[in-house]
Amino acid sequence: MLKQHLQELRQHATPLYVYNLELLRQTLKAAKQEANKYNFHVHYALKANANQPILDEMRQHGFGADCVSGNEVRAAIENGFAPQDVVFAGVGKSDDEINYALDQDIFCFNCESSHELEVLNELAEKKGRTARIALRINPNVNAKTHKYITTGLEENKFGINAWELDSVLLLLNKLPNIRLIGIHFHIGSQITDLTVFRNLCTRVNEFQEWFEAHKIQLEHVNVGGGLGVDYYNPEQQPIPDFSAYFSLFNQFLELRPGQQVHFELGRALVAQCGTLVSKVLYIKKGVTTNFAILDAGMTELIRPALYQSYHKIENITSEKEDVRYDVVGPICESSDCFGKAVMLPETNRGDLIAIHTAGAYGEVMASGYNLRNKVKALYL
Ligand code: LLP
Repeated sequence: MLKQHLQELRQHATPLYVYNLELLRQTLKAAKQEANKYNFHVHYALKANANQPILDEMRQHGFGADCVSGNEVRAAIENGFAPQDVVFAGVGKSDDEINYALDQDIFCFNCESSHELEVLNELAEKKGRTARIALRINPNVNAKTHKYITTGLEENKFGINAWELDSVLLLLNKLPNIRLIGIHFHIGSQITDLTVFRNLCTRVNEFQEWFEAHKIQLEHVNVGGGLGVDYYNPEQQPIPDFSAYFSLFNQFLELRPGQQVHFELGRALVAQCGTLVSKVLYIKKGVTTNFAILDAGMTELIRPALYQSYHKIENITSEKEDVRYDVVGPICESSDCFGKAVMLPETNRGDLIAIHTAGAYGEVMASGYNLRNKVKALYL
């Protein structure tokens, strides 16, 4: 698709994030259609990409907002998401962030510790409000993904562990400005094996029984996000589609009458619509390899450096014979490398390189390290 827009791309400074809004719309429609079959509610995880045009599409397609900081709550509210469609998660919410979210009367706080519950109760009391909360429970399910994006194991900092639940319930009885309405789980990201979600359903069902035995009615169950996407890595196993994903939860979750199921998808909604476009600055012959040195680096897309993650790299301007390159950025770190031994058509200074599947956790994780300019975005 980018090749059709070469003339336009050439007029923009690089590095540049290019978003295909039509592809985004198709993805959102597909996700919505499958979720609607079971009356599932999907909140979009803003952390994946909080650019305004992306948020506009999310809102217009009927997604709620899953926020993980006060600024994300603010971005959602200012973009026009209704407060009753906004949830606020996160292991370390500050008092200012909580106060702002209380003032907005958002749908739910996903709470991760007893200490947080006490602070939330105190702040809500000062405002004469009652905060609706879901308890984020750590289900100790292995997400079989990169260790940095695994969140549902007991060794992780996230959520309340099963053995703490008795004491949390005793505590909740003493906190009048908090109302428990749901339970929340999120076990990790870029999950490509559906049996992982099936294991999550089994754990959720066990927790549901536990709450029922304690005479607590839950209005909703939030199973988080985590559905993986295709990074076009030849070694990657096939990726489940929205249909398989939602139908699995429909099949294996045991719900109580009237209970809603909530999801928090980020990557699966936005990853494919974004591409990082960069210009080749130099070609350098190394001892064992050639380096293609780009004007984009780990400051624009940190995923390869941080998680050794694979992104498909394409030269969209050269049609010569293939040559092997290490594709690297300009940053003063050896980890500033987008791909090793990548076969690309013979590449020259000025060629445009596309780094695909960069719509999620790409631009939003950009940094100013080396005093780099803020990367720009183009919407096609
Ligand atoms: N809900 C919670 C509580 C989360 O922590 C996350 C992601 C999501 C939902 C959305 O997960 P998704 O559907 O996008 O997998 N920077 C990493 C990913 C970090 C994910 C953090 N939490 C990466 O580039 O792979």
